[in-house]
Amino acid sequence: MKNNLHTPNSLKIFLLGFMGAGKTTIGKKLAKALEIPFLDLDQVIEKEEGATITTLFAKLGEAEFRKLEGSYLKSFSYPEQFLLATGGGTPCFYDHLDWMNDQGTTIYLKLSSKSLHDRLKNATKEDRPLLQNKNESELLTYIETSLSQREPFYSKAQITLKGENLSIKDFVNIFEHKI
Ligand code: S3P
Repeated sequence: MKNNLHTPNSLKIFLLGFMGAGKTTIGKKLAKALEIPFLDLDQVIEKEEGATITTLFAKLGEAEFRKLEGSYLKSFSYPEQFLLATGGGTPCFYDHLDWMNDQGTTIYLKLSSKSLHDRLKNATKEDRPLLQNKNESELLTYIETSLSQREPFYSKAQITLKGENLSIKDFVNIFEHKI
């Protein structure tokens, strides 16, 4: 996917995907391999607001949280090059996805509902307000429903990579050949 905006010398990468897809874990490794700064949108919001995502969700409600998330996404002072791990819902509200597609390279880390469930069922839910108070079967239903609603947004990313068993070497290879 070569174009004038996204030359390898000006890497602006937005990593998208459902909760548990590995955006932070893989994102950090990829940023290191590409020698560019790693940013995490949730962490940016938490630092600037002085509150956790869970507290902000409880205080503002989801609709207001989405506006806040969008304003940080769009007004953050990004360095020249970066890899940003977005929140699972970031691309699915307002014009966030179009905005990211205009600004840089969007990569969707795609995993099946089953893989996401396997990863999320034992993960801590404290920092994921949308998953709290769900037992294993409710969690699976939530993932399946929410993923099918979000897939039309995620699938507009410029690059889609299967997130299961993705090695950083593969990732860098695939990525370098696609931009
Ligand atoms: C959300 C995902 C979370 C966080 C918030 C909402 C979502 O980020 O932004 O809890 O709507 O999927 P991670 O995908 O990093 O867990």
